Amino acid sequence: MTSEALPGAKEHIETARARAAKVDDIPAGTALKPIRQVGVLGAGTMGGGIAMNFLTAGIPVTIVEAEQANLDRGVATIRRNYENTTKRGKMTADEVEAAMTRLTPSLHFDDLAQADLVIEAVYENMDLKKDIFARLDKVAKPGAILASNTSYLNVDEIAAETSRPEAVLGMHFFSPANIMKLLEVVRGAKTGDAELATVMDLAPRIGKVAVVSGVCHGFIGNRMLAKRSEQSQALLMEGAAYDAVDDVLLEFGFPMGPFQMGDLAGNDVGWHRDPTRVETIREALCAAGRFGQKAGKGWYDYDDNRQRTPSDETRKIVADFAARAGKPQRQISKEEIRERLLYPMINEGAKILDEGMAQRAGDIDTVWLNGYGWPAWTGGPMYWADHEGLGKIVAGLEKHGLEVSPYLRRKAEAGETFN
Ligand SMILES: NC(=O)c1ccc[n+]([C@@H]2O[C@H](COP(=O)([O-])OP(=O)(O)OC[C@H]3O[C@@H](n4cnc5c(N)ncnc54)[C@H](O)[C@@H]3O)[C@@H](O)[C@H]2O)c1
Repeated sequence: MTSEALPGAKEHIETARARAAKVDDIPAGTALKPIRQVGVLGAGTMGGGIAMNFLTAGIPVTIVEAEQANLDRGVATIRRNYENTTKRGKMTADEVEAAMTRLTPSLHFDDLAQADLVIEAVYENMDLKKDIFARLDKVAKPGAILASNTSYLNVDEIAAETSRPEAVLGMHFFSPANIMKLLEVVRGAKTGDAELATVMDLAPRIGKVAVVSGVCHGFIGNRMLAKRSEQSQALLMEGAAYDAVDDVLLEFGFPMGPFQMGDLAGNDVGWHRDPTRVETIREALCAAGRFGQKAGKGWYDYDDNRQRTPSDETRKIVADFAARAGKPQRQISKEEIRERLLYPMINEGAKILDEGMAQRAGDIDTVWLNGYGWPAWTGGPMYWADHEGLGKIVAGLEKHGLEVSPYLRRKAEAGETFN
């Protein structure tokens, strides 16, 4: 696979990113809300990283936890991350102290009363989030913006728990939240113009690239990612080696493939923790202690330098699953792997556009370039699709028996492009 940039890709990336910052139907001159004080709920993986963005930008943060131990651990992680930044020469010790003094750790919900913006980052559980927003509604000051960092949940349902749905939107950060550039801003059915415009204006001040998404399962990024995951699993069951699947994406220019990503994030995230209950390959990996890089083994075996080697144990786990499912095994070409991983993502992108969940194809490119390591030489998935040829993509999807969205088909037949 070439890594020479597609014609116009570089310019497209710049233009798409600048355009993504604009919300087409918000009147110019919409008054912005001042954000002088931020509240964060939950000091876990995401809450801590989210807080750091504001602390670094000079905005005071009150971080509220349910449990003292989690609060202490969260604050200690923030400090450690900052201290690592000094070691790399990116911040001085004084700057770190200044950032830390802007942080107020608390176990009291009422301490969020002064915040102009509250970002909720508690567990991904709808009942919990509903309860939190109902409580926030009572505590937050009038005019405050109430955001959820949910990855998948319906922001409109969360907003309906409050008496001020116009104040509610999604701010979907990516892990590690103090590093990753992407911020998906989820616009609910009732989200106010001033609230949305304020958050879009705030994003670059905290070093983020913002893209607006409508309310749908997984928003723009995770919704498309789900299609790739589905195919990567299906390919294994049909006989593709898991490292071959990763390698195809590496060759395309991704920093890592889906199974490497699983090992990095931890295969045990969301695992039920019962080693006798094994219904998926991932559960079998967990039952064998193959949690990922942190355990020295996951899909791959890892050496002390975190270099991966494909594992015979994993291959056997996969083969057993395929055998039990009665799936015939065959040789699968690199070309098929590439098409089956990437084309369904383009198809989902087309559906997202058709449904108006993204404002423009370039917004989808911006999401994937800044949040998921989609290689820049391509200009992003939708720009790449235009160069690949929409007709070729439709034909590929059909050849592999995969869904073709009517919107994609219409565009292909009309000889049009996304961008
Ligand atoms: N981890 C990721 O990669 C990632 C990426 C994007 C979005 N998200 C989303 O961010 C949210 C948080 O995920 P996480 O990975 O940081 O989880 P986590 O488990 O690391 O942290 C959640 C924290 O919330 C705290 N908490 C629970 N109930 C609370 C309450 N009532 N009040 C205050 N604090 C409470 C917990 O004590 C815990 O420390 C989820 O909605 C998740 O889907 C996660």
